[in-house]
Amino acid sequence: MRYLTFALGKGRLAKTTLELFEKIGITCEEMKDKDSRKLIFVNEELKLRFFLSKGPDVPTYVEYGAADIGIVGKDTLMEEGRKLYEVMDLGFGKCKMCVCGPKSAQELLEHNQLIRVATKYPNIAKNYFYNKKHQTVEIIKLNGSIELAPIVGLSEVIVDIVETGTTLRENGLDVLEEICPLSARMVVNRVSMKMENERIAKIIRDLKEVL
Ligand code: PRP
Repeated sequence: MRYLTFALGKGRLAKTTLELFEKIGITCEEMKDKDSRKLIFVNEELKLRFFLSKGPDVPTYVEYGAADIGIVGKDTLMEEGRKLYEVMDLGFGKCKMCVCGPKSAQELLEHNQLIRVATKYPNIAKNYFYNKKHQTVEIIKLNGSIELAPIVGLSEVIVDIVETGTTLRENGLDVLEEICPLSARMVVNRVSMKMENERIAKIIRDLKEVL
């Protein structure tokens, strides 16, 4: 039996993902050691391997077959647009992709003004403004702390994830438009889905039972 390899996005989703897998008997003790600098963890008994990567790299590993299965946010899947199967909504990591900014920016959105949009998600922002709203905007790619952009005058609005809304509130910003709901998804490599169908289908069945 060959190893089935899981790619997990580092950060918010990783802990919940591991807890969920534990519920269906898939464990990886090694991975719980927070001080470890190891990158890949093996469960010899179940012939499983797990690795943590940056979220946006998860769909890449899965598309190329370096991982059979990935757990990643819908935001990342939409942004990366990789060729893979999205097989399951895991129901955690729920949040929304939104256009946010100061209240005063609302009218710029309503009157189709040429505005600047800062975001970590240029493809999602482009698709929303160009294809859905038919509004020409300038998109500025940032890598984090996106809420800073309208505060310091880099952009009029941002496209970003809103979970509790605390970051917006504490920085005097509001949700101006909702783009779509998000949550964690399980994705599978297209070839693995055929070659390892039995094992992967069982994991999906077991997960559905506990969710
Ligand atoms: C995300 C997102 C918002 C924040 C929203 O950032 O970009 O800044 O969480 O969460 P809230 O609505 O619960 O306040 P993250 O913490 O992932 O860091 P980042 O600044 O690197 O994007």
